Amino acid sequence: MSMTLRRLSRAATAGLVAAAALTAAAHSAEAADTLGSAAAGQGRYFGTAVAASHLGEADYTATLDREFSSVTPENEMKWDATEPSRGTFTFTSADRIVDHAQSQGMDVRGHTLVWHSQLPSWVGSLGASDLRTAMKDHINGLMGHYKGEIHSWDVVNEAFQDGGSGARRSSPFQDKLGDGFIEEAFRTARAADPAAKLCYNDYNTDGVNAKSNAVYNMVKDFKSRGVPIDCVGFQSHFNSNSPVPSDYRQNLQRFADLGVDVQITELDIEGSGSAQAADYTKVVEACLAVDRCTGMTVWGITDKYSWRSSGTPLLFDGNYQEKPAYDAVLSALGGSGDPGDPGDPGDPGDGTASCTATYTRTADWNSGYNGQVTITAGDEPISTWTVTVTLPAQQSVSSLWNGTPTWNGNVMTVKPSWNGTLAAGASTGFGFTAAKNGSDAAPTVGTCTAS
Ligand code: G3I
Repeated sequence: MSMTLRRLSRAATAGLVAAAALTAAAHSAEAADTLGSAAAGQGRYFGTAVAASHLGEADYTATLDREFSSVTPENEMKWDATEPSRGTFTFTSADRIVDHAQSQGMDVRGHTLVWHSQLPSWVGSLGASDLRTAMKDHINGLMGHYKGEIHSWDVVNEAFQDGGSGARRSSPFQDKLGDGFIEEAFRTARAADPAAKLCYNDYNTDGVNAKSNAVYNMVKDFKSRGVPIDCVGFQSHFNSNSPVPSDYRQNLQRFADLGVDVQITELDIEGSGSAQAADYTKVVEACLAVDRCTGMTVWGITDKYSWRSSGTPLLFDGNYQEKPAYDAVLSALGGSGDPGDPGDPGDPGDGTASCTATYTRTADWNSGYNGQVTITAGDEPISTWTVTVTLPAQQSVSSLWNGTPTWNGNVMTVKPSWNGTLAAGASTGFGFTAAKNGSDAAPTVGTCTAS
């Protein structure tokens, strides 16, 4: 379909979309037993990052449709995905997500227009004036295609350096266009779709620190000079090295006080069990305590597809079972599915044994490699587990430790040697040495089953 036709057909469905959203809101007032409906009861959205490639998986889509009221395409709207060569726009994968979201009455966050990463190489080789034109063309291309359909756009992403300098990060935009590129991007974005909220989005800005101070000063300057900006996104990727800051709420509030909305845009917290649940509670409570915190988005549905899946940072485990963190979020949102409700799948005490498996290559040489598969029990203790690993056809396994394999062609099914018993949330693993025999491809780890 040509871009013009696509644009027309997208605009024609906008009225239907608005009607679907109203229906969803009406449903949510009745039964606050999902994340989206509980958040709606607090006047907020509850969203997730979505990958188009998983939409064909029934459990993935069922969980998405049941629980979430907003989606952010995880990679599909980025520059490398949408304008891989200059002036040629590709919207197939992003359209799939937007169409799905609209069919369910969900909002869509646009992510992201101007970012140093996932940027095709042609952008970096342009001179300043050409780059300025290309940046504006890209913003107009994306925002024009989805005009009227995107709730909020991450117009500029991660433009500041980490650390104490408060300086801008080096990028083609910064290096060739200077500080003014951010303002130019926002002005272009406002003209392209006046209905969309325009956000600046970044990480390590969740507490009060040098980086968030620099963003704060930029937003303050924009507001004082009438540069269009409506919202600031706080990515909120947390783990033990980067825990939920104690001044998280205070930081959100000081931005809100500048006259912008604040949104939690990419939330995930590595960990498990009650500690992870408590951290999620802190984040939700901070958002609810700030009037202009309009919603939260977690960076994925299931741990198995997280960008850092070994840290199990999400609300659903690899088998789509609700984790303690899910119960904590639902409860903090005032939802009715309290922890321990009989029949809540994944609740401790409901007897559903589950596990997830993740793979890493731990050593690599010309003719072979070592692989490690980590198995993590879900919310219940388990007494045994089984994982399948499919090797590329040429490869062969010469040794395997801490597991017992049986073979069917190039598929090995591995059961524990001595390490079947795991406490809830605990991990073990097995390792193996493989000969490449001409193929350097990674093996595929199948579903982990437990009892
Ligand atoms: O789709 C290709 C696949 O065809 C190929 O075989 C494979 C081989 O590496 O790569 C696949 O693409 C990967 C893509 O994710 C889809 O899975 C890319 O290599 C990988 O780099 C990309 O990572 C994304 C990352 O941004 C890139 O910076 C993550 O999914 C995505 O979650 C992550 O999201 C970012 C936000 O946009 C901005 N804030 C930080 C956040 C986390 O890093």
